[in-house]
Amino acid sequence: MQNIWENLPKPFLILAPMEGVTDAIFRQVIAKAGRPDLFYTEFTNVSSFASEKGRHDALDRLKIAPTDPPIIAQIWGKNPDHFSELAHALDKMGFSGVDINMGCPDRHVNRAGGGAAMIKTPELAVECIKRAKEATNLPVSVKTRLGFTYLKEYKDWLTLLLKQDIAAITVHLRTRKEMSKVTAHYELIPEIIKLRNEIAPNTKLIINGDIKTREEAEQLYQKYPDLDGFMIGRGVFANPYCFTNHTSTREELMELLNLHLNLFDKACEENYHSFEPLKHFFKIYLNNFPGASNLRAKLMETHSTKEVREILAQEN
Ligand SMILES: Cc1cc2nc3c(=O)[nH]c(=O)nc-3n(C[C@H](O)[C@H](O)[C@H](O)COP(=O)(O)O)c2cc1C
Repeated sequence: MQNIWENLPKPFLILAPMEGVTDAIFRQVIAKAGRPDLFYTEFTNVSSFASEKGRHDALDRLKIAPTDPPIIAQIWGKNPDHFSELAHALDKMGFSGVDINMGCPDRHVNRAGGGAAMIKTPELAVECIKRAKEATNLPVSVKTRLGFTYLKEYKDWLTLLLKQDIAAITVHLRTRKEMSKVTAHYELIPEIIKLRNEIAPNTKLIINGDIKTREEAEQLYQKYPDLDGFMIGRGVFANPYCFTNHTSTREELMELLNLHLNLFDKACEENYHSFEPLKHFFKIYLNNFPGASNLRAKLMETHSTKEVREILAQEN
C-alpha cells in the first residue's frame, strides 16, 4: 500500500480536524472551494467504537465523502485495546492513515484521559501508539500540543513522540493550558525542526496554530524549508477559499452555502440531523460582502433549510 505521507507535495496543506465543523458535509464544501492536500475527520472515540451503544455514532463520524480521499481518520481515547480494535477496522474503510489526537484541551476529553491528558501519561501514550501501529497497515501519526501546563514540557514530550517511529507529527504551537488564548509559539519552530531532524528525520513535521491562508503557510515555508506541511483550522471560517490564493465573490460564497444546504438535506434523508448547528456555518458564507450581516441576521431566525432557501430566493 502507498504511504500517503510520501506522496504529498512540499509543503502540503491540511484542513485541521474540528469537532462539529469538519464533518463529511463541510469537507465536500471545502473540496468545491479549493481542497487542501489532505483532509482529517473529526475525532472519533476508540471506546465508543468498541461499545455496542457508541458504534453507530462512531461509524457515522467515519463516513468518507466521494471528494474526501486522501483522508486521515483521527481517533482519541486512552484504552490501548480499543486503539487496536479501531485502528484495525480503519484499514478496510478507505482511509489513508490514522491520526491519534493527543492535544484536545476539552475538559470532558481530558477527564476521560484522552487528548492533551495523554501528555501527562506518556507511558500510556506510547502504548496507544504502539497498539495502533501493530493493528493497522496504515501510517500512524500524532497531533499534539507543546505541553500540558508549561512550555518547557515540549522538549521531553516531542522527543518521546518522535522516538515512536510515527509517520507524521502535527504540533499545535500552544500548551493545553494556553488553549487558544495566546499567539502560537512560532519562535519554537527552529528548535522543533532540530528535534525532528535529529531524532526522526523520516517523520513529517506539520505546524499548526494561527495560520489562516495558503499565502501565510508559504511564507512560513520560505522561512523554514525543513517543515513538511501546515494545518489550517479556523482560517477556513474567515475564508473557505483559504487553501487557494483566490479571493471569493458573493456569488461563489452563495453557491457554497447552497451546496451546504443541499448536502445537509441529503444527509437528513439517511439520518436525523439537527438544524440548529447548521446555523453556525452561515457566518462562513455570509461574510465580506455588502449586506452580508443583514442577511445573516435573517437566516439566524430560521428553523429549516426550506425557510433559508425562501429568504435566499427573495435576495436574488
Ligand atoms: C471548533 C473546533 C473543534 C476542534 N476539534 C478538533 C478535533 O476534533 N481534533 C483535533 O485534533 N483538533 C481539534 N481542534 C483544534 C484544531 O484542529 C486546531 O489545532 C486549532 O484550531 C489551532 O489551529 P488554527 O489556529 O488554525 O485554528 C478544534 C478546534 C476548533 C476551533
